[in-house]
Amino acid sequence: MELFNVYPLYDIEPVKGEGTYVFDKNGQRYLDLYGGHAVISIGHSHPHYVATVSAQLEKIGFYSNSVQNTLQKELARKLGEQSGLDNYSLFLCNSGAEANENALKLASFKTGKSKVIAFRKGFHGRTSAAVAVTDNPKIIAPINKKNDVVLFEMNNIGAVETEIAKGDVAAVIIEGIQGIGGIHVPDPNFLKALQNVCNQSGVVLILDEIQSGYGRSGKFFAFEYAGISPDIVTTAKGMGNGFPIGGVLIHPKFEAWHGMLGTTFGGNHLACAAAIAVLDVIKSQKLVANASNVGTYLIEELSKFAEIKSVRGLGLMIGIEFEDEIAPIRSKLLFEKKIFTGVSGKNIIRLLPPLNLKKENASHFIEKLHEVLNELKQE
Ligand SMILES: Cc1ncc(COP(=O)(O)O)c(C=O)c1O
Repeated sequence: MELFNVYPLYDIEPVKGEGTYVFDKNGQRYLDLYGGHAVISIGHSHPHYVATVSAQLEKIGFYSNSVQNTLQKELARKLGEQSGLDNYSLFLCNSGAEANENALKLASFKTGKSKVIAFRKGFHGRTSAAVAVTDNPKIIAPINKKNDVVLFEMNNIGAVETEIAKGDVAAVIIEGIQGIGGIHVPDPNFLKALQNVCNQSGVVLILDEIQSGYGRSGKFFAFEYAGISPDIVTTAKGMGNGFPIGGVLIHPKFEAWHGMLGTTFGGNHLACAAAIAVLDVIKSQKLVANASNVGTYLIEELSKFAEIKSVRGLGLMIGIEFEDEIAPIRSKLLFEKKIFTGVSGKNIIRLLPPLNLKKENASHFIEKLHEVLNELKQE
């Protein structure tokens, strides 16, 4: 059987990971500034993570959601403590799309309405409701088009207020920082105004922190920069450091009833063990502060490059926009300088490294980026 060919692949295969590095089968080391798409939060193969997941596997890897599972409670307690949302409830699932799908469903249950406001350049996943609120017609199949969705430019509060005044909106969904769309940070005043209009009209405000959450922005959740309290927060990616897990953090104003949401695999023992280990390491190694410090340094250094059109982001979620296409830059960084980076469109390099990235790793990247840009000028 062949694999269904949906991914364009680099001809490279990491077979081992350690901290901020991955290694190919020849033992060649690469600095990982991509984190497997913002997934690696505490670093590859962190010893505490490996020990915790291995020990759990020896005990029990999975049972169903019809029995007690104290690991889920421990995870919820620790997540509440570290995010400051300890009065919220947690629903566990397996991926980012699933977290948003459940969040949108909750909003619809609560309001009895179905219209959703989302934003241009936004990405929320590929399942039915999640893809319908994503700004990319190419990945929306006819079966996903039945949802009632309106898209506005980010930061356009007037358009949101006018739409909400019509009285048929269930939810507004917005990324803490737009990731796939090219690293766009919402204006904190816009987020505050969004919260106000949602609160006044009973519309559910969903913060998609799937990419920007778990310390990546230099705060536990990126929306903290605006000082708001969303109705629902969704997480995934960094939550399991590679073990598939997603979460929906739900404000106390929502009441659960048995059967309202559900999943077979969500919140299984192994996933919870992985997610608990992640939170333990984020706390003990102060990785949120590290993301803030190293990220600030990177943004300052990148802002000095004459060749770069714009540098955007917060913490270790950084977009570097060039006038020209970036494919040759990324290719040289990867194959010659041995540095993985991410991408957004044709002109933006995205940095989404593990949160334990050291300042010396960041300086190394700056030095190699200078080299690459100079070499390309001479070619
Ligand atoms: C902001 C955001 N939301 C949702 C998703 C979907 O997550 P998943 O691929 O785990 O379904 C992503 C994935 O890139 C994302 O960046």
